Amino acid sequence: MERYVIKGGKPLVGEVVIGGAKNAALGILAAAVMTDGQCHIDNMPDVRDINVLLQAMKEIGAIVDRKGPNEVVISGKDMNPDNLVVDNEFIRKIRAGYYLIGALLGKYKKAKVVLPGGCDIGARPIDQHIKGFRALGAKVVIEQGMIYVEAEELRGTHMYLDVVSVGATINIMMAASMAVGNTTIENAAKEPHVVDVANFLNSMGANIKGAGTDVIRIKGVERFHDTEYSIIPDQIEAGTFMMAAAATRGDIIVKNIIPKHMEAISAKLIEIGAEVTESDDAIRVRVDHRLKHTQIKTLPYPGFPTDMQPQMAITLGLSTGTSMIVESIFENRFRYVDELRLMGANFRVMEGDTAIITGVEKYTGARIEAPDLRAGAALVIAGLAADGWTTITEIGYIHRGYEHFEEKLRGLGGVIKMVHSDEEENLFKFNNN
Ligand code: UD1
Repeated sequence: MERYVIKGGKPLVGEVVIGGAKNAALGILAAAVMTDGQCHIDNMPDVRDINVLLQAMKEIGAIVDRKGPNEVVISGKDMNPDNLVVDNEFIRKIRAGYYLIGALLGKYKKAKVVLPGGCDIGARPIDQHIKGFRALGAKVVIEQGMIYVEAEELRGTHMYLDVVSVGATINIMMAASMAVGNTTIENAAKEPHVVDVANFLNSMGANIKGAGTDVIRIKGVERFHDTEYSIIPDQIEAGTFMMAAAATRGDIIVKNIIPKHMEAISAKLIEIGAEVTESDDAIRVRVDHRLKHTQIKTLPYPGFPTDMQPQMAITLGLSTGTSMIVESIFENRFRYVDELRLMGANFRVMEGDTAIITGVEKYTGARIEAPDLRAGAALVIAGLAADGWTTITEIGYIHRGYEHFEEKLRGLGGVIKMVHSDEEENLFKFNNN
């Protein structure tokens, strides 16, 4: 069984280069089938969720020509509109297969896609996606774990989303970009990856304005053309390495990022006493003392991202005083707390959505399990900050969203290895004692 073995207690120091944004890439790759021309996409992260989506796209007839780990050319020209059923055992496990609903509905006016899976961090309904498709004139039926959408014609409309949803905003934006007439989405999500998907669609000939604000206006067009596009850097991967510097009291320059996207994270790190220096496309985080406590509430962008909540919590678990984190987006996002307690952390979870964290001087190594993608990455950081050896199982979650995670951490001086057996684990420990 694959697992990480980590020897902690050493500050992480050096430079790390951030890859393309997973959550932007998932939307962009799905949208790429909307053209019969060619989409040349680079800065694509080579992670499991991306590879699963590309495989599902191939299975419904998309041409997926992988030029390299981070570069792909996609065309939807040979797809058969009568066979648009997206289902395999892998796509059931990821969230973003649902972007194929919006993309296929826009282009072919129909699709049948397995209902989304993804990390178990809450109920994660898709009612807002469905509300949007219906508002555009589609018939939506859910049967046997599949969602079936179809429309004679998609017609532009005015809609107000009841909750701010990244997925619903992107999905509706895709379908509406090939509807007849104008669509306005109010209370839209403003995340950088929403903007990136809109920019990508516009580069193929869509007419989308206002992405990045809470009102997006879309003028439908009939067809899309060829494009070349480079995906934005991953805000969450960057934030994870910023937190790795903070929790291990290290000094990391996080490169190839858009510092503006990091503001909520940088601001909190500065508030608790870290030294954060920005340049054009990099941020340096340096910490040489114990950080302070604070209060955090996760919110849609530009608020503090829910996907950074566990990494921040790990840092606050080592800070002075008592901190509080309120998780307002997903109701099941403190599952890592039981694992962290095994490392000596002092966390109390109240009402399911609030963690009260009393900082401890040090974590100690333990044998723990990654409960989901972001919490898994956070526990790796905890292991790197802890005294002694930590073993983390279920690391498949982490590979869903982080490219070369252990290599990048090793480049910063982290003692970490992925092993597959007890023998390998013992040998690594023996060689590093
Ligand atoms: C995306 C990200 C995920 C991130 C999340 C919030 C991808 C593949 N995943 O997930 O990493 O944590 O944004 O930034 O991009 N909701 C509804 N009805 C809906 C849709 C959502 O009630 O139809 C609720 C959700 O339960 C949640 C909130 O809205 O409480 C936000 O969810 P949403 O922004 O849609 O998250 P995802 O797109 O699933």
